[in-house]
Amino acid sequence: MKITICAFLALAAYVAADNKVVCYYNSKANFRDSQGKFEINFIDPALQFCTHLIYGYAGINADNFKAVPLNEIFDVTRDNYRHITALKRRYPGLRVLLSVGGNEDKGDDDNIKYRTILESVDHRLSFVNSAQALVKNFGFDGLDLAWEFPQTKPKKIRGKISGWFSNLKHKIVGESVIDENAEQHKEQFTALVREIRNAFRHDGLLLTLSVLPNVNSSVYYDPRALAPNLDFITLQAFDFYTPERNPKEADYPAPLYELIDRKYDENVDYQVRYWLQKGAPNNKLVLGIPAYGRAWKMDEDSSISGVPPLLIDGSAEAGPYSKEEGLLSYPEICVKLANPQKLSTAAGKHLRRMGDPSKRKGTFAFRLPDENEEGGIWVGYEDADTAGNKASYVKAKGLGGIAIVDITLDDFRGLCTGDKYPLLRAAKFRL
Ligand SMILES: *[C@@H]1O[C@H](CO)[C@@H](O)[C@H](O)[C@H]1NC(C)=O
Repeated sequence: MKITICAFLALAAYVAADNKVVCYYNSKANFRDSQGKFEINFIDPALQFCTHLIYGYAGINADNFKAVPLNEIFDVTRDNYRHITALKRRYPGLRVLLSVGGNEDKGDDDNIKYRTILESVDHRLSFVNSAQALVKNFGFDGLDLAWEFPQTKPKKIRGKISGWFSNLKHKIVGESVIDENAEQHKEQFTALVREIRNAFRHDGLLLTLSVLPNVNSSVYYDPRALAPNLDFITLQAFDFYTPERNPKEADYPAPLYELIDRKYDENVDYQVRYWLQKGAPNNKLVLGIPAYGRAWKMDEDSSISGVPPLLIDGSAEAGPYSKEEGLLSYPEICVKLANPQKLSTAAGKHLRRMGDPSKRKGTFAFRLPDENEEGGIWVGYEDADTAGNKASYVKAKGLGGIAIVDITLDDFRGLCTGDKYPLLRAAKFRL
């Protein structure tokens, strides 16, 4: 009896210890202004929670298909690669990976280099060798492939008449094809992963995949063939709705479950089930949780209830620190929220938060425009509750863990409640 209990406890401890907490770190945060500037000493309070740190991002040189630093001066000359990998001395269990792509490596023609490179054995070899050298020279524990495949086309918003017209047009020309050689690219990507795995085996380096938002997994990834050669796969199952993709209609950017009248595949649960059904083992799937919101501008046509989907007038202004149109970091949102004691709806200064008792949709907050049509904003975002709900989902499904994308957009200064990294913390404790 006693032995059984011990064995059980040991197993429970093992399972818990096996949960991955993957922290993405985007080095561009070093160049943000004032409160948004993320210097390396801010990383410490996060590392007590992280099992893996993913350094974003390296890129691909389109001329010779080598993996290269995207900011040579900061990454290499100023030694940021080495400063980050040196954190392992203080956190011996931490594994640090270098990520390639991540929508930070912009290129021509829908970033065609990410597909051209796959098409030839020589190009792939050039990439494998250079990536391996980069990883080893700077003390990384492995490589993450945040491959920049073309994104799906966003849903068009239709009025009654144009809806009829576009239905007709669909019937005539069919869905537009984003990549005529997608089938080959899928097979070639599997080959690339196998080749990297073989090259890395001798040094025991890790290899992981980040499935970027709006890349159609069924088009580009073969879970059953990929999984054996990957340590884990992070599903960045968010940004289903963004102001850039959907400038006229705001909606929950990263719902956990399918919502009524939405596309069946634009939710976390669908993406996870897809990878499981196609042969990825549960413990290799890591669920990505965004540390930011997607923000649109409300106007006179937006429903005053704020309940999505709602008509909207493009991106909200960039946040004061993150300075990216249509994106607000978690602290940029939390400081705008109304004190719940004195809810002001219309045109007040604050945003009104609408939580998610259903635990299916996500949180949003909004402010109606004033009489001059100014100041309206609608933001769908992740907070400690919804990040925790996603971690609970991961636990219930026996998945491999969670990833915060990325920690430089979480509240690393503790501006919201005093606690640093509230989203990372909330998700970690619900695992
Ligand atoms: C993804 O591709 C499949 C076909 O492989 C298609 O049926 C589905 O609609 C696509 N999803 C999106 C969001 O485009």
